[in-house]
Amino acid sequence: MKLATTGKDLREAMLDYAGLTGRRVLVPTMGALHHGHLELVRLAREAVGADGTVVVSIFVNPIQFDQAADLEAYPRPLEADLIKCQAAGVDVVFVPDADAMYYPDRSVTVTETLLSRSLCGASRPGHFDGVCTVVLKLFLLSGCHAAMFGEKDFQQLAIIRRMVRDLDVPVEILECPTIRESDGLAMSSRNSRLTAKQRADAPRIHRALTEAAKLRDVAEILSSARADISASPLARIDYISLVDAETLQPVSKLKRPAVLAAAVFYGEVRLIDHVAVGQ
Ligand code: PAJ
Repeated sequence: MKLATTGKDLREAMLDYAGLTGRRVLVPTMGALHHGHLELVRLAREAVGADGTVVVSIFVNPIQFDQAADLEAYPRPLEADLIKCQAAGVDVVFVPDADAMYYPDRSVTVTETLLSRSLCGASRPGHFDGVCTVVLKLFLLSGCHAAMFGEKDFQQLAIIRRMVRDLDVPVEILECPTIRESDGLAMSSRNSRLTAKQRADAPRIHRALTEAAKLRDVAEILSSARADISASPLARIDYISLVDAETLQPVSKLKRPAVLAAAVFYGEVRLIDHVAVGQ
């Protein structure tokens, strides 16, 4: 397994694979790798086969954090991550530090103006511009043909697909279903920051969304999910929203496939989840 720590390193490392016939696939992450990430890696390998090249990036991207405290507290168990990548058969790991990724006077950013208005985009200003900018840079530095993203962050996935479509980015976007703990909690690097009590309570998010999604009336769906989550004194709702599955805009009637999504704080830790409605 090769390790690259600057963009130049990565470009050079990738030259060794450029002449090969196999495809190259990128799995962008912020590290603290869990089974969800490793499933992305497994599907990435499956997509390109033994002849292909699997690249994992591990970068806690400062420009997508709207809260300095969240950036600071983000877990960074690099050694354990590298061992996991090695064991998963990753070919190249890219671990830049922030100085290696951004010029201090950088002035160009990728901005998405429609799908990022709702949900996490509404409560985290600038977040998706930071995501799009880093993802485009990672695509360009790695020269990969394809990239794997998790359906868990479905707004992120929709926005990246839109960026690729609108800017003619020659990268195929692949997706992996949400991987959950046995009690239903969506796996997340942030789960490790929950206290034992918060961790025991957090599966209520998925339970509440799943139960609410069985109803047919928009107001009832939203009030059922809200009531089930706010029944816990530990949980603080950031948003619960029912949006069109394609435009991500809030819906008032269930006519087309929709998504019921929530972001919930446990202390300082913000967890997100969603379920399909009417699909
Ligand atoms: P991160 O939160 O580390 O997630 C990296 C990738 O793993 C994303 O595509 C995410 O959707 C996927 N993922 C995380 N948890 C998952 C789960 N339980 N099941 C399935 N997939 C899961 O998302 C980011 O990093 C960053 O925004 C990034 C795209 C790397 C840009 O900085």
